[in-house]
Amino acid sequence: MCSFVVEMKNKKILLVGGAVLASEVLWYIYKRVHNVWSNYINTRKVLEVQIPKSKHDISEVMFFTNESILCRTHFTTEMTCPKNNCPVRYLRHIESYMNNAKQSLDVCMYMFTCHSLSNAIVNAHKRGVLVRIIMDRQMGSNDAAQTALFYNNGIAIRLICQDGLMHHKFMIVDNDLVITGSTNWTMSAFFGNFDHIVVTNQHSLVKPFVVEFDRLWKTFSKSQEN
Ligand SMILES: *[C@@H]1O[C@H](CO)[C@@H](O)[C@H](O)[C@H]1NC(C)=O
Ligand SMILES: *[C@@H]1O[C@H](CO)[C@@H](O)[C@H](O)[C@H]1NC(C)=O
Repeated sequence: MCSFVVEMKNKKILLVGGAVLASEVLWYIYKRVHNVWSNYINTRKVLEVQIPKSKHDISEVMFFTNESILCRTHFTTEMTCPKNNCPVRYLRHIESYMNNAKQSLDVCMYMFTCHSLSNAIVNAHKRGVLVRIIMDRQMGSNDAAQTALFYNNGIAIRLICQDGLMHHKFMIVDNDLVITGSTNWTMSAFFGNFDHIVVTNQHSLVKPFVVEFDRLWKTFSKSQEN
């Protein structure tokens, strides 16, 4: 009886010892696998960050100042000057975004009288780019406004007459890039006002503009078109 109990005890010790050993081994294996796995994950993270995106990020800021007026003289010559914030270069730059548009240009602009930009829009339309323009009715009816040019070229344009002003100043290129800021698209804004323009293709910023433009376009559907 007694020896049997001792034998049982020994077996128990063996069993416990075996279980402890087994759990040690399991723990060891777990640690190894875990280390290898987290190394793999970390390397992946690093790789993911380092891999350059196929599309490069665009984020630009332009400042127009009272000094901009000095560049008005070389605006007609199509030349830019070496000044860091030459408004002519800024304008050419904005035009080049329009000229490179492949699918769509959505413009929401309070005051739009600048010929070089309206010509770029008409040219895009002629290339087959889908152009939609929203303007404030009162500003759009102004003699200097480019409204007639857009109508004559068959561009879809909606003039909004509301209690509040249609005071936006932004353009979306290919649903992928936004050009926005304080600046009316007028010569006086580009050449003499203190104004700014921001250009970005950051998705989290572009997306809300796309959604809002579509919403406005639908809200002011045919009824406001003429
Ligand atoms: C712009 O404003 C500054 C500050 O008042 C002044 O010194 C400068 O002469 C102005 N430039 C022009 C072109 O008017
Ligand atoms: C835009 O143009 C209109 C009409 O010329 C003007 O009243 C307004 O002050 C300009 N600037 C802004 C920031 O709206």
